[in-house]
Amino acid sequence: MRRYLFQKDFQDMPMVQYDVVIVGGGLAGLYTALQLNEGLSCAVLVKDRLNTCNTSLAQGGVAAVVEPEDETRLHLEDTLKAAAGIADKELARLMVEQGPKEIDRLVSLGVPFDKNPEGKWHTTKEGAHTRKRVLHCGGDATGRLIMDRLKTAVAEKPNVEILENRFLVDVLTGENGRACGVVAFENDYCILSAKAMVICTGGIGRVYRHTTNRHSITGDGIAAAARAGATLKHMEFVQFHPTAFMDTESGKTRFLISEAVRGEGGILRNPSGNPFMEGRHELKDLAPRDVVAREIFLEMKKAGTNHVFLDITTRSKNFLSKRFPTIYRNCLEQGVHMEQDLIPVAPVQHYFMGGIETNRYGQTSVENLYAAGEAACTGVHGANRLASNSLLECLVFGSQCARHINTEKSSKEVLPGISPSHKTISPVDTESIEKKIRNLMQDYAGIVRNEKGLQRALSGLHGILKDLEVRDLRHGQPMEVYNMAFVGKEIINAALKRKQSTGAHYRDDS
Ligand code: SIN
Repeated sequence: MRRYLFQKDFQDMPMVQYDVVIVGGGLAGLYTALQLNEGLSCAVLVKDRLNTCNTSLAQGGVAAVVEPEDETRLHLEDTLKAAAGIADKELARLMVEQGPKEIDRLVSLGVPFDKNPEGKWHTTKEGAHTRKRVLHCGGDATGRLIMDRLKTAVAEKPNVEILENRFLVDVLTGENGRACGVVAFENDYCILSAKAMVICTGGIGRVYRHTTNRHSITGDGIAAAARAGATLKHMEFVQFHPTAFMDTESGKTRFLISEAVRGEGGILRNPSGNPFMEGRHELKDLAPRDVVAREIFLEMKKAGTNHVFLDITTRSKNFLSKRFPTIYRNCLEQGVHMEQDLIPVAPVQHYFMGGIETNRYGQTSVENLYAAGEAACTGVHGANRLASNSLLECLVFGSQCARHINTEKSSKEVLPGISPSHKTISPVDTESIEKKIRNLMQDYAGIVRNEKGLQRALSGLHGILKDLEVRDLRHGQPMEVYNMAFVGKEIINAALKRKQSTGAHYRDDS
């Protein structure tokens, strides 16, 4: 593995100093920035624009105990059960206990969670929740509305600067291995030195052919942290959401259909029209995500189709268009009336349980380097994340990071003198390599895996990485492809090591 991707002498790069650099402007990044002491100068680097994060796509909501008939004990139990026995219980407890406080904080920032006619929170059940506890905004526009309020709040913080269109190239470490800054790329390289760096770059979506993630999600933060020496954890655990809208003719998935649709009574039907979750799991259509995604995959395979159907025709147009305005509109654009038509759906990559290993304060194994949100692996999701626990994790562990950074007395690390190797040859044809990576991952490291397929993907990725090791990566796109090949290889290596099926990691040869 290359230690650094940049290829320019250090002394030729401009340098700006901050106390804290946060990479990623989704919920974890902005929420961390918002809670830093105002005496700490902070830059938030965003790969594209602030609006183009994964958080703004989140439909379902935020899970938290706000109903009188619910208890944190039950939320914890559901989280651990969905996680297939390997979640970090103490951190999961911290997350569910702190959840209601974070909801209060969002409310105080003006986040408009939906209420019922009696003025109480409107909550929904999603897969594997035994109680109604998923809060949402604007029906199915939860992420967008939370981000709107956070952007306003962060804009009022004099110590926080948002830098858009900055690609994270590398995390810099000093002679003693402590992180001391990042190299970013806009039109050229630039060094941002800091006392603390927080990686909030999201997961790995684009590594797969079908994903609900933004196009910009290529595992850059995870790969850069690993190059800096950070330990990665649970890389084999990739979550597939059971229901994305499938354009049956093109075979392309179009948009997410929230699990909340099943929470409001939707059921899955196979291509012959039969409901199939009955008898497969006690929670039927609201079984944990890994179980439902796998059952759909098997039904599709049996029928030789690229989709099954989601049926919510028991609900009226009035209800559906109000409760799920975005999904309703999106379906209509595809010619599907939710109140009368079956919706063609298929499972797609959606979330990454693995990532940069962190402790309760978001600290990684590299001093001064933190991670939060999907890029981090706190272990709270184990082998399968409970629905709507991801925004909750961003809130709780974003707060934990900020709290720790605010109280740390760490002094600034001296920047290293680095002379990267210049022995590289011509740039790469990124498009064809990217396609190859996505096909290998989708076909061999997807919902169902086995030794033979994983080995095949591994050898393909090894070939790609070997070639990229000596290439001139120079710009953002080739670097993205390098990061994709790297995280893909890490996923496959971890999947090969875990011989037993566990949660979202399912092997048909175990
Ligand atoms: C959904 O609305 O189904 C997605 C929410 C999540 O990923 O937890």
